[in-house]
Amino acid sequence: MSEMIPQLSNYDEASLEAAFATLSDEVRQQAAELKTTEAQENFRLNWLGRKQGRLKLVSDAWLKSAPAEARKPLGMRFNQLKQQIEQALEAPAAAASSATVQGIDITLPGTVRQPGIAHPLISAMHEVVRVFHQLGFSTNLGPQVESDFYNFEALNFPPNHPARDTQDTLQIAGQQVRPSRDRLLMRTHTSPVQIRTMIAQEPPIRIVIPGKVHRNDAADATHSPIFHQIEGLCVGPDITFSDLKGTLDHAMKSLFGSAVKTRFFPSFFPFTEPSADVQISCIFCGGSGCRKCKHSGWIELLGCGMVDPAVFAAVTAERRRVNPDDDAYDPAKIAGFAFGMGVERIAMMLHGVSDIGHFYSGDMRFLEQFA
Ligand code: DAH
Repeated sequence: MSEMIPQLSNYDEASLEAAFATLSDEVRQQAAELKTTEAQENFRLNWLGRKQGRLKLVSDAWLKSAPAEARKPLGMRFNQLKQQIEQALEAPAAAASSATVQGIDITLPGTVRQPGIAHPLISAMHEVVRVFHQLGFSTNLGPQVESDFYNFEALNFPPNHPARDTQDTLQIAGQQVRPSRDRLLMRTHTSPVQIRTMIAQEPPIRIVIPGKVHRNDAADATHSPIFHQIEGLCVGPDITFSDLKGTLDHAMKSLFGSAVKTRFFPSFFPFTEPSADVQISCIFCGGSGCRKCKHSGWIELLGCGMVDPAVFAAVTAERRRVNPDDDAYDPAKIAGFAFGMGVERIAMMLHGVSDIGHFYSGDMRFLEQFA
């Protein structure tokens, strides 16, 4: 033992008092340092060890030379000191057990909750929507389980028309008993919300419609049976094709950088006439040609066009069920443009993601890169 055995030359009351006070102080100081179980064990061995314990050595030394009448007070004081040592050993255990509240060990490290972030698809959606909000568009939403009327008929896809084949549709079971316009399906695009908006609201209209859409497509690197679109619709008295071009050109520059160019190609959609596909100059090679743009310098990004008069006619027919004189969507007085784009495609381009499946895998190693 490192400490010396104190010498006791006198066995009168005052000398005993002073000698034990010194030992008791030592115990108190050491007891305050018992932070670990290892320290506790050392403390216990140091004082109470059977052969080399300090208590044993000191009592051996003092009792041996003690006169008979001093043995009793000595013994009592040794007992008190032993109690003090034993209490010091129990105290940390008591403190630890009070830290265990109803079976929860509050001394264990807590659960670290990572702050959440927007999913890359959601943030791409927000980015696009924000660009249009800055142009005065507002947002509208619609149901994912949609009727044939809104998804197809009112958008100028007549029943059995081949244009429907381009959107491989997931039908809701058991709908055959209903009239064809009421049959339910999973919406194949966000365009039905154009119809819902126009039936509910008079022009002028400027809305964007973000949302989930469903198609019976096999999943591969660029396709998923569930994906996201952002639709746009602008209707007013003097809306022209140049408004459409200017709006989309501005939006693409805001999203992909001011150096990006746009070009419009004739296309076909039943609900727009004329219709166009919009291409942007390749954001990877700047237009000189690379693997990503299949060496064309251009990337096709969205569809658009001027709202077909047949769409306004379908909207008017619906509005007249409520107000027979309604002519808010008379094509002689108003015109409109519409556009639709895939969110996944935009997110893949913005972040250089080559497999659409990453967005749905829930793999934290992928998602954490967007934190
Ligand atoms: N709904 C079309 C689709 O899913 C995309 C689209 C094209 C929407 C042209 C439009 C538009 O509003 O004008 O393929």
